[in-house]
Formats: sequence, structure tokens, C-alpha cells
Amino acid sequence: MKLLKDKIVEEGKVLSKDVLKVDAFLNHQIDPVIIKAIGEEIADRFAEAGITKILTIESSGIAPSMFAGLELGVSVVFARKSKSVTLSGNLLTSKVHSFTKNVTSDISVSKDFLQEGDVVLIIDDFLANGQAVLGLLEIIDQAGATTAGVGIVIEKGFQPGGKLIREKGIRVESLAIIKSLENGTVEFLEGTPT
Ligand code: G4P
Ligand code: NA
Ligand code: NA
Repeated sequence: MKLLKDKIVEEGKVLSKDVLKVDAFLNHQIDPVIIKAIGEEIADRFAEAGITKILTIESSGIAPSMFAGLELGVSVVFARKSKSVTLSGNLLTSKVHSFTKNVTSDISVSKDFLQEGDVVLIIDDFLANGQAVLGLLEIIDQAGATTAGVGIVIEKGFQPGGKLIREKGIRVESLAIIKSLENGTVEFLEGTPT
């Protein structure tokens, strides 16, 4: 998606050879114009997939998911990372290990909002090691629902998440795939990852 790649080049900051900061439009300040276009692009790619629900994880996955949900006419459920006082009882849960932060956390979704028969599109802001997506897949599995695929805003193609998820036979659509962040420069992967 050219609009997104241009935005990354203009406003992204390469913090290290592993980390891209996009606080200016995605992770802290949110640019509704570009995030709307992103949500709609993901929705268009899955327009024929019979999606009944979007599943994301708080917090940065929510904004693009909202616009995709609006376009597809389906609700958005976000997995919670911390226990809420109102979130109890009937929960689907899984563990997500963050290599970046070196912590494992429990994520949860109420059984009320994800059910057998749902055809689910997972959306997230970044795909790095793939642990968040694996946790969401586990939750979909527990619900007895079906995964239609995964829509990602920015995939770091030099980290293992994309390969891990695609090798499971799951369709992953990433709007920008980064090949390298070496030398403070963002280099994109053009075409489809293999
Ligand atoms: P993984 O799920 O792919 O294994 O991700 P990892 O543990 O490596 O990343 C943990 C958090 O860091 C996630 O956000 C993820 O989206 C984010 N992240 C990973 N790589 C980058 C990067 O290069 N740049 C930025 N900006 N974020 C990155 P989170 O902690 O769940 O936070 P949020 O959703 O509340 O923003
Ligand atoms: Na995220
Ligand atoms: Na994030």
C-alpha cells in the first residue's frame, strides 16, 4: 500500500535495526485519514471471505479494526491484556509471550462475543514474532470459530512471525512489509512473501 509506505518513510523513525517507531500516526497519535484507508484496504482484501467478526488486541489494533469493521459491516472484538472487573466468568484465554518485553501475559475474550460459526478476521498493527497472532488463533480455536485470515498494518519481514503464521496455511495480508531497518533506513519488501 503506497500511501502507508510513504507515511512510514515520512513520519516513521528507525530506533534500531529491529524497531520502527510510528507513534506519529499509529501507536500514540492516530491519523484518522490514513488509518481509515488502512482499515478499508484490509476489508477489501477479505471482502469475499464471509467475515462475521474482527478480532484484535488492545490497544493499537483497535483503530484500524474499527474502519475495517465499518467497511465489512461486522463488530470488532479486542482481546484484553489485563483483567477487567466486568470481565469474568465465561472467558476464552491464552498466553502471549513478548520477546521484545520478555514477559508472558494472559489475554482474554468473553465467550459472549466469539462463537462457534463465526468467521474471524484477525487484525493487528505489527507482525514481529507472531506471538500475539498465535494467542488470538488459540482463542478462536477455543471458541470453535473459523479463522479467515490475518490483516496486518506493518509486518517486519526479517522477523519470524509472518513465516510462522503462513506456514500454518493461514492467509496473511500485510499492507507494508519491511525487509530491513539496517543503517537507519527503511527498506520494503515488494511483492508477496514466500
Ligand atoms: P509479536 O506479537 O509479533 O511476537 O510482538 P512482540 O512481542 O515482538 O511485540 C510486542 C509489542 O511491540 C506489540 O505491541 C507489538 O505490536 C509491538 N511491536 C513489535 N515490533 C514493533 C516495532 O518495530 N515498532 C513498534 N512501534 N511496535 C512494535 P503492544 O505491546 O501489544 O502494544 P500496543 O498494541 O498497545 O501498541
Ligand atoms: Na499490537
Ligand atoms: Na503495538
